[in-house]
Amino acid sequence: MPEEDFIISLGIESTAHTLGIGIIDSKGKEYSDVKSSYMPPFGEGIHPREAARHHSNKASSLIEEALKEAQLKPKDITLISFSRGPGMGPCLRTGAVIARSLSGFYNIPLVGVNHVVSHIEIGKILTKAKDPVILMVSGGTTQISSLVDDYYTIFGETLDISIGNCFDKFSREVGIHDPNNPWPGPVFDKVAAKGTEYFELPYSVKGMSVSFSGLLTAAIRLVKEEGVSIENAAYSLQETALSMLTEIAERAIAHTRAKELLVVGGFARNKRFQSMLQEICEDWQLKMLICPYRYASDNGTMIAWGGILQYKAAGSLKPEESLVLPDWRSDDVKIIW
Ligand SMILES: Nc1ncnc2c1ncn2[C@@H]1O[C@H](COP(=O)(O)OP(=O)(O)OP(=O)(O)O)[C@@H](O)[C@H]1O
Ligand SMILES: [Mg+2]
Repeated sequence: MPEEDFIISLGIESTAHTLGIGIIDSKGKEYSDVKSSYMPPFGEGIHPREAARHHSNKASSLIEEALKEAQLKPKDITLISFSRGPGMGPCLRTGAVIARSLSGFYNIPLVGVNHVVSHIEIGKILTKAKDPVILMVSGGTTQISSLVDDYYTIFGETLDISIGNCFDKFSREVGIHDPNNPWPGPVFDKVAAKGTEYFELPYSVKGMSVSFSGLLTAAIRLVKEEGVSIENAAYSLQETALSMLTEIAERAIAHTRAKELLVVGGFARNKRFQSMLQEICEDWQLKMLICPYRYASDNGTMIAWGGILQYKAAGSLKPEESLVLPDWRSDDVKIIW
């Protein structure tokens, strides 16, 4: 294994809506990070096959753009890394085909990494976190974990939909949208901030886990059946869902006595969530670390970085062993680096 070798890694992210290409080296220097996101038809969620088609159409131009921005040639790249899972089958397979082709054509070693672990690892290196409690909050995932005996042990997670998906679905149902952004997250933030009256909604914490689907239905009902304003319903939904997550975060902090809380995933950008977490971090005298926004949601750089860690510890993957793993859980990955 090339432990000491200098590596320049090109990462391919393609688990869901975004095709991302990023280049980073083994010292942590970033060269380029480009992405293109599939836009579902207005008011609809992702169609996996359409997203995969978007990724295969954009692949060669995005790879060219990433190399150009990095001022590198394909022969300068010494590792090809791709998201092996979890994610949508058609999207993952498209990314894997692109990775295998580049690896085979240019004779560059190939590695496949776990998408969620890569979200965590890029957050760790960019924030210089040492041994944090980790909140991974995104469009597909809601987990609280920390590294215990070489695994990101999940203390709690959502039992149904993710926090990002919960707010996105509410937004679509009640008509909150931004014509330039497929994800209503940022505009939901602004609408919820205008709410002034709290309406009671089901608060569902089970042990260290949470459940959002009943809450989502009840919040939509507030608007559609009870005539509550969208602002007040969004505000009530946000306060309830984020209090649930803050409660389990606080329990994980109390349990681990960690000194840092690291927040990763696209939902890390939610302002109200940041302020609630800041309060518990002050109470428990913890450092709150938020993954820089560009790298909080899906991106190729996190996959390139995850690939470097994986390759240094365990070497490359043969193409015939590189099948995608749509249901690959982050707590099944042994953290060997
Ligand atoms: N400012 C914001 N506030 C709140 N949520 C946001 C904001 N910006 C984006 N989001 C949400 O973040 C999510 C997208 O994040 P990300 O790209 O990390 O998720 P994903 O890749 O879909 O999920 P996963 O990583 O689990 O596969 C969406 O649900 C989106 O609405
Ligand atoms: Mg993601």
